[in-house]
Amino acid sequence: MSYPVNRPRRLRRTAKIRDMVRETWLRPDDFIYPMFVIPGKGKSQPIKSMPGINRLSPDLAAREAKAAFGEGIPAVLLFGIPDSKDAVGSSALKDDGVVQNAVRAIKDTVPHMTVITDICMCEYTDHGHCGVLTEGIVDNDKTLPLLAEQAVSHAQAGADIVAPSDMMDGRVSAIRSAMDAAGFEDRAIMAYSAKYASAFYGPFREAADSAPQFGDRRGYQMDPPNVREALREVELDIEEGADIVMVKPALAYLDVILQVRSMTDLPLAAYNVSGEYSMVKKAGEAGLIDEKRVILEILTGIKRAGADLIITYHAREAVKLL
Ligand code: PBG
Repeated sequence: MSYPVNRPRRLRRTAKIRDMVRETWLRPDDFIYPMFVIPGKGKSQPIKSMPGINRLSPDLAAREAKAAFGEGIPAVLLFGIPDSKDAVGSSALKDDGVVQNAVRAIKDTVPHMTVITDICMCEYTDHGHCGVLTEGIVDNDKTLPLLAEQAVSHAQAGADIVAPSDMMDGRVSAIRSAMDAAGFEDRAIMAYSAKYASAFYGPFREAADSAPQFGDRRGYQMDPPNVREALREVELDIEEGADIVMVKPALAYLDVILQVRSMTDLPLAAYNVSGEYSMVKKAGEAGLIDEKRVILEILTGIKRAGADLIITYHAREAVKLL
């Protein structure tokens, strides 16, 4: 009986009416732009698996951060690729480490850019695992003090937010207490709370040279079929003091984003990861899709599912499309 009285098409008739009833809007402040930093000066290395993304030395990272800030992007997330790796990831903790230097360079050049740093060992260990090993097993409790020290070191360099992506149990509270003890109680933690053992990280591992040299990450990252476990991970991170929680990857996990959204009032971030990015870029290059529209549709979908913040390699192109 409702037809023909009810005609939803009336509100789709003009672009202006569609705008009036639009439920989800993307804005530049939604985006966090991830960047890969390397030691040196004047260095820019294209990442083959991620068209349009380069590894940059701190000076060039600062220049790119400045351009991004000018376009309206409020935050960057830094991943470091050091010159040397060892079993315990010592290069992660150095005062003049690659991320520490990049944080200082960015803060010097664009003081109002929010600088977020990745906290994890995988870019710094020669075996590529996210923590230190005891008899070939990633040792949770031995890794915690290293993560805490890395976070304090990044805060000292000027990081506003630290983002642990290692998936060790108890890392949020270890980092929180170490940062508080060091006088950084004002710096926030964005926890990769529900981070899945995903094949979508493939291009990142080339970019960060961080593929595990043996085995995989299933012993610490989450099993993709699980969602109740994700809620438990989020709950634990909140108890431990996380300020922002995260779901990662985004596209195959929109239901997880939705459920996390409904269980917490904390800001929720979603990571639109490297594999999600590269699939779009490669399909665009091949002329299979209208790349610009697909980018906006994906980012809108992630926001509609419930994410407040979207970490995305598309950030710079996306702000130009809004
Ligand atoms: C680990 C880390 C990874 C990503 C962010 N932090 C890779 C992994 O867990 O193997 C992936 C990000 C992406 O794919 O864009 N430090």
